[in-house]
Amino acid sequence: MTTIDELKRRFTSADFLSFVEKAPGFIAIEVKTAFSTATIALQGAHVTSWQPKGQKPVIWLSKAAKFAPGKSIRGGVPICWPWFGPHASEAGYPGHGFARTIPWKLLEAQKLPDGRARLLFEPAMNDAARAQWPHASTMRYGVMIGQELVLALATKNTGSVPFQLGQALHTYFQIGDIGQTSIAGLDGCTYIDKVAKATRKKQKGAVTFNGEMDRVYLGTAGCCGIIDPALKRTILITSTGSRSTVVWNPGAEKAAKMGDFGRQGENNMVCVETANAADDVITLAPGETHRMTAQYRVLRNG
Ligand code: BG6
Repeated sequence: MTTIDELKRRFTSADFLSFVEKAPGFIAIEVKTAFSTATIALQGAHVTSWQPKGQKPVIWLSKAAKFAPGKSIRGGVPICWPWFGPHASEAGYPGHGFARTIPWKLLEAQKLPDGRARLLFEPAMNDAARAQWPHASTMRYGVMIGQELVLALATKNTGSVPFQLGQALHTYFQIGDIGQTSIAGLDGCTYIDKVAKATRKKQKGAVTFNGEMDRVYLGTAGCCGIIDPALKRTILITSTGSRSTVVWNPGAEKAAKMGDFGRQGENNMVCVETANAADDVITLAPGETHRMTAQYRVLRNG
């Protein structure tokens, strides 16, 4: 496993990075650019903060989030890979895949001439992960930090038989008040309503919140916006290589049961996940690479 001293040595000339140990064996990378700051935990290559200059944080992290090896972090950008939700046949495998709870390697970190920072990661597959994912594949995750945050997942089938891939950038966004928030860009899409026995429904107009919501929107167009009157901003989400969008807020009762949401944390977060899930899982042929990207930008409203 990578140690903090090794990272400091390898990236000694990268003055825009610093490495901190948040808990024993739990390393985080802090990135500073002229436009924004970000934090990425090495476990899961998990972005836990992104804050453009002059803005409130864009990414929500629970005040009760736990940083412990092998445990998923409540908030930030968990990477769900190589399946989304429960595994298709193995009930004992971890929900949302293993990528978010295994260590990753930082392969590269560069400052681009325009001032943005670009980091490249790959998962350090352990025996348990290999047993759960017996397919020959490689995966790379790029994080670009600037005025916008750009996340890019690339999965290659390096074997000789096709496999199915489910995935999501399970981003928790910080909002002022869930009751006033709406999501634009999903009008007319069919969704699987996971709080109504997975019935299929059609979205009419913007998505608004009143208690627990857990939906997988199918065949989505790659552009939606979180309209947040309380923080007077819209977070614009554009994506490529993604056919599904998951919208999730646990509501008060479920959040209280989960134990790591913090007091009323659910009022200040919404997950809008760039995904390939349910009907939209990807079949990857031998030699093929699938790229999925998500780009976040903040627009001020007044
Ligand atoms: C969402 C799912 O993506 O993630 C929900 O649609 C799930 O069903 C939620 O509850 C949180 O998952 P977890 O495993 O991080 O608690």
